[in-house]
Amino acid sequence: MIHVIPRPVLVHELQGALDPSSLGTILVEGEVSSINSLARKFLEDILEKELCILSMDDDLAKTGIEGYIMLSKDDNLAKTGNEGYILDVKKEGVSIRARDARGLFYGVQTTRQLAWGAKNGISGSESPRNIPCVRIVDFPRFQWRGFMLDVSRHFFDVETVKQLLDAMALLKLNKFHLHLTDDQGWRIQVDRYPKLSTIGSNREESQTGGFLSRKSDGKPHGGFFTKGDIKEILEHASNRYIQVIPEIEMPGHCTAALASYPELSCTGGPFKVATTSGIKKDVYCAGKEKVYRFLEGVLDEIVALFPSPVIHIGGDEAPRKRWKNCADCQAMIESKELDNEDELQAFFTSRMVEYLESKGRKAMGWNEMLRGGFDKDAVVQYWLKDKKHVLNHLRHGGKAVMSHFFHVYLDYNHGVIPLSKTYEYDPIPKKLKKPWHGNVLGIEAPMWTEFAEDRHHVHVFVFPRLIAVAENAWTPRSRKDFKSFTKRLSTVQEMLSRLGIECTPLDLAEPKGLKKLLLKIKIYKQSSELPS
Ligand code: ACM
Ligand code: ZN
Repeated sequence: MIHVIPRPVLVHELQGALDPSSLGTILVEGEVSSINSLARKFLEDILEKELCILSMDDDLAKTGIEGYIMLSKDDNLAKTGNEGYILDVKKEGVSIRARDARGLFYGVQTTRQLAWGAKNGISGSESPRNIPCVRIVDFPRFQWRGFMLDVSRHFFDVETVKQLLDAMALLKLNKFHLHLTDDQGWRIQVDRYPKLSTIGSNREESQTGGFLSRKSDGKPHGGFFTKGDIKEILEHASNRYIQVIPEIEMPGHCTAALASYPELSCTGGPFKVATTSGIKKDVYCAGKEKVYRFLEGVLDEIVALFPSPVIHIGGDEAPRKRWKNCADCQAMIESKELDNEDELQAFFTSRMVEYLESKGRKAMGWNEMLRGGFDKDAVVQYWLKDKKHVLNHLRHGGKAVMSHFFHVYLDYNHGVIPLSKTYEYDPIPKKLKKPWHGNVLGIEAPMWTEFAEDRHHVHVFVFPRLIAVAENAWTPRSRKDFKSFTKRLSTVQEMLSRLGIECTPLDLAEPKGLKKLLLKIKIYKQSSELPS
């Protein structure tokens, strides 16, 4: 069994093996493009030597080189799609064929893992220091293979984000959702509204010890991405075929914005950037035109910065209390002939959806936004409750990304969500009939960071569970097997460790007996203690 994650669709092992130390040349068709230089960097890092890049048009290439890694684009390769590839390992070298540069990129990720396994004597073959000769035919089960990082509750810098993008690339994940705004901090520069950075990005202190704790650290916390930072993240991501989806939360989870501009609320404030977790009752006023103008102004700058065809506008956990007592909100309900506050949220949302559509973008939002009726053209992100609404959306041709709270919320400890629970998650709802399965775009795993105060904490909560998410999102169900997954895990974990990412060890990621019970009890405290 070769040690590759996500497990490829088809693996046909052949006689013989390739010595990875013989690899010396990357052979490419046509121009030396950016994928080839990145492929070179990845492979040089693993093989610990310099590789030369040679065009197949070169006379030298025609003389029959050995120790090659050949990358060739083949427009006629239909069955593996735009992200798939065919990889052949022979005694003389490795060849990767794909219809699209993305497929070549993923073939390179597989090659990295094969080479690392062989170099370290864990190739999974009879001669563990060699790569077994093999034919791999591979392509993803889902087009949306995502990870979300909450940079509001704790801010993480560009370097931390780039490191996570590197890990995503190794795992063939392709959607990075940046949760940029929330009650506890606004984390992106908006030129038209400078107070979002000067006021909204700073809080006085942070709650510690879990959701129910009254303790705090007494230390200010702040930070935001400049537009230059975002461009750097976008470039790093796009070189790895990862799309960055920005999220601007509305109408709830917006205390940081209200602290900056209290006139956007129902009551007028004043407000402080939140220092504790939980749902806050102050939300954007849905009855004031200036709120819509503000949010459109923010979205203008977001759309100008992020090329993503999808922009996330939140929509979860918006309490109705303020709207019920606000003359402006009630006047809006009356003038638009709405029945209640649920319909007011639907009205608010559809204005934003239409605004984004006018800019050529699709909206995405958490499942609560379906409650008062919702545009089927928007992408829904399912996390909890409202399954009926989501099924209805899918049956009417709407698209959804699945992020079930009890399976892929990576901020929960491993007693509550052990590795196997994440691995066994199937994003296709049981009640959804086959004709609608294609409307489920895929899986996304969020990492919320209320109690994740540094990057080490993020790493040990995210990994290895994100590795399981990656296999879930790529590998056909019939090829999935938890036992085999845990056997293959060490190769990827060691490669992540080279990137500076520490994973929770398997005995703690899949705790048993008393250890599991003790971790489970801790959910109510959402302890920020690290599993070590
Ligand atoms: C969420 O976890 N409130 C989307
Ligand atoms: Zn209001």
